[in-house]
Amino acid sequence: MPISDPTDINCGIALEPTEDQRSSPANVATFGEVAAARMGRRAFLKGALGTTTYTALAVSPAALLAACGEEEAATPAAPTAPSAPTAAPGSLAQFTEISHGVSTDNVVSPGYSADILIRWGDPVLADAPAFVPGAADADAQEKQFGYNNDYVGFVPLNDDGTRGALCINHEFTSRDIMFPYDLRNTSPKELADTEMAAHGGSVVEIAQMADGGWRVVADSKLNRRITTRSTAMDVSGPAAGHPRMQTNADPTGTRVIGTLNNCAGGITPYGTYLMAEENFHFYFLGELDDAEREGATAGDLEAACAAGEASHPEARNYCRYGVAMGGGYDWGRHFDRFNINKEPNEANRFGWVVEVDPLDPTSTPVKRTALGRFKHEGAESITNKDGRLVIYMGDDQRFDYLYRFVTDGTVNTDDRTSNFGLLDSGVLSVAKFSDDGSLTWMPLIHGQGPLTADNGFDTQADVMIETRRAADLLGATPMDRPEDVEPNPVTGKVYVALTNNSRRGPSQMDAVHDRAPNYWGLIVEMTPPDGDHSADTFTWNILVKGGDPSVPVTGAQFSEATTSNGWFACPDNLAVDPAGRLWVTTDQGSGWPQISGTADGVWSVGTQGEDRATSAMFYRVPVGAEMCGPCFTPDGETLFVAVQHPGTDGALAFEGHARASDFEDPMTRWPDFQPDMPPRPSIVMIRKDDGGRIG
Ligand code: FEO
Ligand code: CA
Ligand code: CA
Ligand code: CA
Repeated sequence: MPISDPTDINCGIALEPTEDQRSSPANVATFGEVAAARMGRRAFLKGALGTTTYTALAVSPAALLAACGEEEAATPAAPTAPSAPTAAPGSLAQFTEISHGVSTDNVVSPGYSADILIRWGDPVLADAPAFVPGAADADAQEKQFGYNNDYVGFVPLNDDGTRGALCINHEFTSRDIMFPYDLRNTSPKELADTEMAAHGGSVVEIAQMADGGWRVVADSKLNRRITTRSTAMDVSGPAAGHPRMQTNADPTGTRVIGTLNNCAGGITPYGTYLMAEENFHFYFLGELDDAEREGATAGDLEAACAAGEASHPEARNYCRYGVAMGGGYDWGRHFDRFNINKEPNEANRFGWVVEVDPLDPTSTPVKRTALGRFKHEGAESITNKDGRLVIYMGDDQRFDYLYRFVTDGTVNTDDRTSNFGLLDSGVLSVAKFSDDGSLTWMPLIHGQGPLTADNGFDTQADVMIETRRAADLLGATPMDRPEDVEPNPVTGKVYVALTNNSRRGPSQMDAVHDRAPNYWGLIVEMTPPDGDHSADTFTWNILVKGGDPSVPVTGAQFSEATTSNGWFACPDNLAVDPAGRLWVTTDQGSGWPQISGTADGVWSVGTQGEDRATSAMFYRVPVGAEMCGPCFTPDGETLFVAVQHPGTDGALAFEGHARASDFEDPMTRWPDFQPDMPPRPSIVMIRKDDGGRIG
């Protein structure tokens, strides 16, 4: 089963339909109903939006106006050059804002340069062969930079910060735009093998050049590829060795080949690289319910799951995660471990946080099961004032949860490697938000409350393998797709990107989620009491609500000083610069033409004083890409960003293309713009032309 549409496997809107095992479509309002309720205008329902579902719906400002009877719906924004520079008033950001828009190239604030550091197919290992466009060559791919770069982390290698180990996740592959039709159509084993080699991560040593830019050190001993195909990983923590983790290939339940769908991540204070496994469910074929094998529809399977009648031994677990519930990759045709009927436990060995020592290329990555199993977006950490490490993690699916892990031990700043077992013992908690502005962290500990054998949790291993179900029983707050969660070491506050949730209905609104459906996302600010990130109770606020604040029906919320280019939608990855300012990247998926009309990008957002909630646009991706991996060097003078899946999302709406975008006919060939070269996901380094801190 070839993947028919590469956007099926991004993290934006397009993935959502496959992620909904819990929400009930029956009580979900259309956008038009919500808008009508907000506007108090029956007339609204008579417009084009009243009965449309989201996918056909235009919610761009122009379309909203049209629906309100003011003018005809406009087509999505045409490609535009940066407008006359306008600084964002009241913003601490001192850069010149760029305009919303969409174009085949990327765009950065005037006075800055955006240069390519490394592209898909470039050498990582010194003996990597040259990239051959359109070829399925797994052995070559194992030595070359992987596909769809997402997380970017920087580990300094010297005191003056001129050398570093850059750690980059390769989240997924986009078959239609990577490979020619014959390969896609026949889907031979070599194709699956190459895709598996394009997943995972890369570690590359980079060195600063005389002009301040960075280059990959081609022959560095640190350079390393980590892949789904070949990298052996250990399993540690409560679930290690448990029978539910055992397979034919690994009867010990402690040794897994590879990692899957590594989205965001983190760098610990002791310089290890955390790779978060997100949409692992998408890689498994097989039948969750034998009884439905003939002529089954997705609805039948969901019903069997809901009734607890699916027959697979891990059905309750896999139903909750969406494993083998349709869509996704066909690797299971060629590799038994990706078929849940041939290897019933293999899917339990993914969905974890993987820890890698980037300073030792021979080290074995470790899946740290104490951090729970879910669709981990990222794993950003901060050392608490008592020395314990605190890791914040989102589970990116509609109505899933926000988590925190607090280690038992403390960070030893004098002996780096003594910290390597720190993530194996500690307390994982899940968040419950209250309308009074507080939030409580509820520990997921076997034997406490409902987490007992009566509910199928015989040990802590079961609690970790089925983290989601444990959190359900505790009554955690269902959230609008928690993506990156970023502690700000300058202010002590923590920011949560909730990207969107098109299925939230009016009856499911709460103080955090006061828009239903939520097409534009929001950023929640959490405050630990007295800077204690291990406290049981925090307070919370909303920093911004995505969408166009000049269109009241959206319910968007930014500061008054935010310009018409400063607002954004669908926040995904976050970073904090050395000055403590928040930087936000977006992922609107295929919905960009309707959601905002602009390509995704990078925005700087003030969090304090007069600058609070003032947002300004700094960088824009080439068409069809999403923006990942914002990462500052410690001096704040370079910002690395990851351009993921250029040329894929929203091709029909892109003026001048307006047809499918694939290997043969992509809507952009960024960054090479060569006739035989497909678009290539790449790491971009952004620097100020005359030096100094970004922003
Ligand atoms: Fe892979 Fe939720 O972004
Ligand atoms: Ca994403
Ligand atoms: Ca993401
Ligand atoms: Ca981050």
